[in-house]
Amino acid sequence: MKFGYFDDANREYVITTPKTPLPWINYLGCNDFFSLVSNTCGGYSFYKDAKLLRLTRYRYNNVPADNNGKYYYIKDGDTVWNIGWQPSKTVLDSYECRHGMGYSRFTSAKNGVKAENLAFVPMNDTCEINRVILTNESDTKKELSLFSYVEWCLWNADDDSRNFQRNFSTGEVEVIDSTIYHKTEYRERRNHYAVFSVNSPIDGFDTQRESFLGAYRDNSNPEAVENGKCTDSVAHGWSPVAVHQINVTLEPGESKSFIFVLGYCENPVDDKWESKNVIKKTPSDKLLAKYKTDDDVDKAFKELKDYWTGLLSIFTLESNNDKVNRMVNIWNQYQCMVTFNMSRSASYYESGIGRGMGFRDSNQDLLGFVHLIPERARERIIDIASTQFRNGSAYHQYQPLTKRGNSDIGSGFNDDPLWLIAGVSAYVRETGDISILKENVPYDNDMSVATTLMEHLKRSFDFTVNNKGPHGLPLIGRADWNDCLNLNCFSEHPGESFQCFGPSEGPVAESVFIAGMFVKYGEEYAQLAELLGDDAEAKRARKEVKIMYDAVLKDGWDGDWFVRAYDAYSNKIGSKECEEGKIFIESNGFCSLAGIGVKEGLAKKALDSVKEHLDCEYGVMILQPAYTVYHLELGEITSYPPGYKENAGIFCHNNPWVSIAETVIGRGDRAFEIYKKTCPAYTEEISEIHKTEPYVYCQMVAGADAYIPGEGKNSWLTGTAAWTFCNISQYILGVYPTHKGLRVDPCVPHGFGDFKITRKFRGATYTINVKNPSDVEKGVKAMTVDGKKVSGNVIPYEEGKKEYAVEIVMG
Ligand code: BGC
Repeated sequence: MKFGYFDDANREYVITTPKTPLPWINYLGCNDFFSLVSNTCGGYSFYKDAKLLRLTRYRYNNVPADNNGKYYYIKDGDTVWNIGWQPSKTVLDSYECRHGMGYSRFTSAKNGVKAENLAFVPMNDTCEINRVILTNESDTKKELSLFSYVEWCLWNADDDSRNFQRNFSTGEVEVIDSTIYHKTEYRERRNHYAVFSVNSPIDGFDTQRESFLGAYRDNSNPEAVENGKCTDSVAHGWSPVAVHQINVTLEPGESKSFIFVLGYCENPVDDKWESKNVIKKTPSDKLLAKYKTDDDVDKAFKELKDYWTGLLSIFTLESNNDKVNRMVNIWNQYQCMVTFNMSRSASYYESGIGRGMGFRDSNQDLLGFVHLIPERARERIIDIASTQFRNGSAYHQYQPLTKRGNSDIGSGFNDDPLWLIAGVSAYVRETGDISILKENVPYDNDMSVATTLMEHLKRSFDFTVNNKGPHGLPLIGRADWNDCLNLNCFSEHPGESFQCFGPSEGPVAESVFIAGMFVKYGEEYAQLAELLGDDAEAKRARKEVKIMYDAVLKDGWDGDWFVRAYDAYSNKIGSKECEEGKIFIESNGFCSLAGIGVKEGLAKKALDSVKEHLDCEYGVMILQPAYTVYHLELGEITSYPPGYKENAGIFCHNNPWVSIAETVIGRGDRAFEIYKKTCPAYTEEISEIHKTEPYVYCQMVAGADAYIPGEGKNSWLTGTAAWTFCNISQYILGVYPTHKGLRVDPCVPHGFGDFKITRKFRGATYTINVKNPSDVEKGVKAMTVDGKKVSGNVIPYEEGKKEYAVEIVMG
């Protein structure tokens, strides 16, 4: 069952009922100012950091769900309704929400009045614009009142939700004409404030929440709206809000537009006051002056649309498969941009206060983003590498505002260092910019101990070399990619963090998954060393990779698949010997895609075992059989009920690893079958089961053992976005950036047909026509570049050349 449809021409998903199974959200903002917005106008805004600089308040886990947002109430006689249905939930005569690239547009109607709200964050300003247009579609005159409503967050979202003994006394605002200024804590250590303004005179305002709502009432039916009159309250403490009231008369057929701007403004610390306790308005005056007319809004909106048209022209696909076209050309790349911006900080499942930017997460996000804006990827790499420690290990997370490592979670996640190699290699392969490798980068943000980025990579590489266990496999530390496989934790008391409790440096527990990573990224490290002319280092690296490869074949192979790990007692995990958790996806996917056991025929065997034991209707499960009891020696993974999250859920992030591995051994049918299972454009049809947004991937889908198999959770912020884009673009469609140029090596399912890719790469445009006359899964028989036959399948890169017309014949 569907709750909307894709409008590909406009790059929108059109939601046709407010009652979606879960809130279906969108992200506004590309640079520093961001908003989350749901299909019922719920959500919140922040500047740079969802924890430290949150502008508006949102209540997670609230009843009713998805409460607080930017709401517009329309009072038409005795009827009060909202453009996005919530919070009044008055039944609408029509409703539509279009989520597009960086904007959402709501259109609804009630009793002859049509209302539209176009919400977006302009490209270069720190604000969100809501343009509300009211139209009288009836044949009688309408006397309406329009009320806006946002609730301020007192900046630090964590403190805001806990520290009531202080917070109920600190709230402060100013109101001048149609602008409400939120200035809590400005008198002391802040030099920033927020504004909510409208481009028209107002007939009233409120800034004290309870004055607007009425005592013991909620925002579904504010007393001021019911009375048709705001109280002009000025907040002192308690909960400041921003409400405008505008009385609107509309003749039949008449429309009026109102431009609301929610903005973030900063003053220099030593020049922040206009007069005693009056904030300096220069930055907000400047900001608000830019968005006064419909033309201003149209211009800013066009800029945003052009921006996305430009970005999405970097990689485009024309194939016979509409669903794949739609994911590749629009939604998958869009989600890659959002995950790059947010990491795992703010979604409807990530509260924005728990986690900053993850070291491993952000490096993986780069893989799907780097072709879009390489300059930002470069900056991000330097930020991430700056939080690395001198011994090569790294802070697991850092805070985007301060860019400092987060000591609450600390380090000890032994896969982290290798992901830095993955991110840097992807950047250099994409751009050819080897200067980044020579960039001076600090350790733990301390510039006095800075070295080149290449030296950082060396330390990443050597961290694994120097931290091996009894089988010569990498020590796992607190966890590897699977945050919940905590082999050194041994936690017995509720509340202890599985990730932080216990020693991080267990001398025994080992990860076969990290071994797979080391083989893959060790080779990529060697190639980077070669690029810098350091053949000796490349040779050394390859020697270490070979040692690891052999260790995996010796002690990481279980007969039919790869072992997952060795626990703190040196017992196998993910082996036939185990009672539960006999086979895991991660080591099988990653070791195979890294090429381990391919020539020995073991990778094929492992992938066959994955199909046999881990496949289900909705994707490939992370492990089987599910753990039914808690194991002290395994940690969080066994804390989840069977079928959920890391305990036998379908963790979408690692499904592409298996799909990629299938392309490595040339099985296009199976690679594509896996791709389809979790692909939103395909799961749209079962939205009532899947529940999360049908235009983006979610982190987890409940596995076969779950109460409701197929139910998705944790949409949007997941490494799935980057990995599925890599999978479809670089492995299935097969356009992979190498240091020497683009390699074209598709691995497609039977019947996929011919297709065309346009790819911008290092300043040139490549038009790549792939023909598959014999309908094979893999293999390139011939390649021509600008009509000339070229041997192999790497398009030779020529400095300064702007256009490449490439024809590939598979066979
Ligand atoms: C984390 C990832 C981790 C994954 C699997 C996600 O929530 O952000 O870093 O790899 O879970 O445990």
